[in-house]
Amino acid sequence: MKIAFFSAKSYDIEYFNKFNKGFNHELRFFETRLNERTANLIQDEKAVCVFVNDKVSKPTLEILHQKDVKLIALRCAGFNNVDLKLANDLGIKVVRVPAYSPYAVAEHTVALILTLNRKTHKAFNRVRESNFSLEKIVGVDLHGKTVGVIGTGKIGAIFCKIMLGFGCKVIAYDLYPDEKLKKLGIEYEPIDQIFEQSQIISLHCPLTPETHHIIDEEAISKMQKGVMIVNTSRGALVDTTAVLAGLKSRKIGNLAIDVYEQEEALFFQDLSGEILEDEEITRLLTFPNVLITAHQSFFTHEALEQIATTTLQNVLDFENEAELVNEIKI
Ligand code: NAI
Repeated sequence: MKIAFFSAKSYDIEYFNKFNKGFNHELRFFETRLNERTANLIQDEKAVCVFVNDKVSKPTLEILHQKDVKLIALRCAGFNNVDLKLANDLGIKVVRVPAYSPYAVAEHTVALILTLNRKTHKAFNRVRESNFSLEKIVGVDLHGKTVGVIGTGKIGAIFCKIMLGFGCKVIAYDLYPDEKLKKLGIEYEPIDQIFEQSQIISLHCPLTPETHHIIDEEAISKMQKGVMIVNTSRGALVDTTAVLAGLKSRKIGNLAIDVYEQEEALFFQDLSGEILEDEEITRLLTFPNVLITAHQSFFTHEALEQIATTTLQNVLDFENEAELVNEIKI
């Protein structure tokens, strides 16, 4: 089947071409994001493949429909960027990759916590400059600390187990508590208890209308002074303005984010020669206790292989009119 890829990076092209050998789809790659202006690049492709920051909203979907596109294949797990109802009304199916190495995201979350806590990023630079001082890089033992996890699905569950291995007390909030995690010693609590009791709070729930700005001014007001907030899930779970105020007031002791509310205009691009227009990220970058990575939690070989093979299989299933096991239904 012919597939038009948007937001294609070198690694997408490499992995999809490599794993397409067994599928024989016809792949066309576009570097640009999919939106109402770029949708016109589509010629006779019946499937489009998009990533997290391609906005598949009404105007874009209408053009896709005019172009007779029948399938949107998300090469990611989250689907908050697609107007599912309209896609359904227009008869366009939407498939995704529900799991691609949840270990990758959980492990990156831990990497952020360890880096921010023990300031290895600062130590690395210091030592390279022959500065062997330990001033201002003291951390804390994670052992014995309380970690609050919001969302204990595939990624959150792995993250919980890793933190148990560190000797942390792990408490969690989820709409559907996981009995297996409970047996391992994870205690499910109401969300306010997570805010009040945790020294580290990590977000692993999807972005939905209910979870939008789940970390806002009110939530922060309930947290312990010096709390570490970690977000490797979706940017808009966190109200950036409220978090900036929390950092300035010293209520928030550390912030690690791999996702950012306004990341669409920034992430996955080299803007090192540009003047950043986004006032909030530029302010965040000035804090010594803020660590930002640019949506790289998923970025391991295993995950890229899984993303490519599952996406190509999703398209093949559609072509063969087989059951779409990874269809997102509304
Ligand atoms: P999952 O679907 O396995 O787990 C999500 C969990 O969140 C479920 O247990 C669900 O019950 C829970 N949940 C849903 N609504 C909730 C609410 N209102 N309050 C509390 N919990 C709620 O998803 P998975 O695979 O663990 O991924 C989680 C999120 O991680 C994704 O939605 C995506 O946004 C993000 N992600 C980020 C990546 C990155 O590179 N930074 C890569 C992959 C996923």
